[in-house]
Amino acid sequence: MLDNLQAQAPDALLALIKMHAEDPREDKIDLGVGVYRTNDGATPVFRSIKQAEQKLIDEQDSKSYLGPEGDTGFTAALMPYIFGEDATMGGRIEGMQTPGGTGAVRLAVALAQQAGVTRIHMGTPSWPNHAQILADVGMEVAPFNHATKDGNADLDAVLGAIRDAKPTDAVLLHGCCHNPTGVDYTEWDKIASALADAGVLPILDVAYHGLGQGLDEDIAGVRTVLTAVPEALIAYSCDKNFGLYRDRVGAFYMMAKEPNQLDAIVSNANSLARANWSMPPDHGGAAVRNVLHDDTLTGEWLDELTEMRERMRRVREWLAAADNEVPGLNLAALAEQNGLFAMLPLSKDQIAKLREDHGVYMAGSGRINVAGLHAGNTDKFIAALADVTQG
Ligand code: LMR
Repeated sequence: MLDNLQAQAPDALLALIKMHAEDPREDKIDLGVGVYRTNDGATPVFRSIKQAEQKLIDEQDSKSYLGPEGDTGFTAALMPYIFGEDATMGGRIEGMQTPGGTGAVRLAVALAQQAGVTRIHMGTPSWPNHAQILADVGMEVAPFNHATKDGNADLDAVLGAIRDAKPTDAVLLHGCCHNPTGVDYTEWDKIASALADAGVLPILDVAYHGLGQGLDEDIAGVRTVLTAVPEALIAYSCDKNFGLYRDRVGAFYMMAKEPNQLDAIVSNANSLARANWSMPPDHGGAAVRNVLHDDTLTGEWLDELTEMRERMRRVREWLAAADNEVPGLNLAALAEQNGLFAMLPLSKDQIAKLREDHGVYMAGSGRINVAGLHAGNTDKFIAALADVTQG
């Protein structure tokens, strides 16, 4: 039976991690998978998380099962940061813990399907795993352009997709720090009105909250949508903004039309979670809860987030300042974009040459992780770009 299986190509992004690790060149540059790096190229555990983990070790008195919803203290503690002062929107929002943002996206798509959604509109390019999850759940995809060639969001395309949507469609949007383009929507009010008028279900993926302009600024678009529409699904990741990547810390929130509909919705999500992973891993969510329940640790986390955001902003400005040195790549646009990622219009050959001749690793789509650049390697990267783009 098992010999019926055809070999699958490894996930291209994850394969890059291995290729980079095997490259012996000391001055290689990793701009592949989306992890934050410091100016020394490290991805340390957050100071706030270290202390929260210590507290967890000292105080946790049981590792007995919770339930498919995971640590409800964790999901509740995040809510004011996501939804604002009225964190349940009048008792209409409830959350559950998921294995990473991936688990949350999967649950959102599967729950939408269970509710009768048959097709999801998705801006492209998108995070490659979005398409994989949609295919795996068996959801039809209707793609629209996410960004224009000059590095702006293609608002007409998203509004057109929403207007054309059928009542049984959903629309998947990145909340901020778009992966892979870094191009965020600025006219969320128009998107929110279009969603409300069309009556389609929004699925909002928030994987980089706080890494663009600030915690409130980054989530403003999502809040604008949630104020306008009757119901929505929100996938949230703490992998980046708490640096918990391998601990797989995500949350999934459901916003119902009426508070009395929430129990039925949540019960469906619980049974889907039970069938998929039963319960989410506890440790990372519990550490986040400890951070957010302690004012000192929360302050430290906010400082760490600011440090990350400001460093990435500096890198974006260095790259934008080199716009004239590498004509044709529109590096100037990077200063206007947000988060870890940007897309460079490089050919497959140029991307291969960057890797082979210069030890620069980036996704095959031309996506770079700007956090892989720092004071010690940005000049080399710009010179490498100039080399591969000249003739
Ligand atoms: C990325 O896009 O690099 C990250 O979201 C990591 C992942 O799981 O793909």
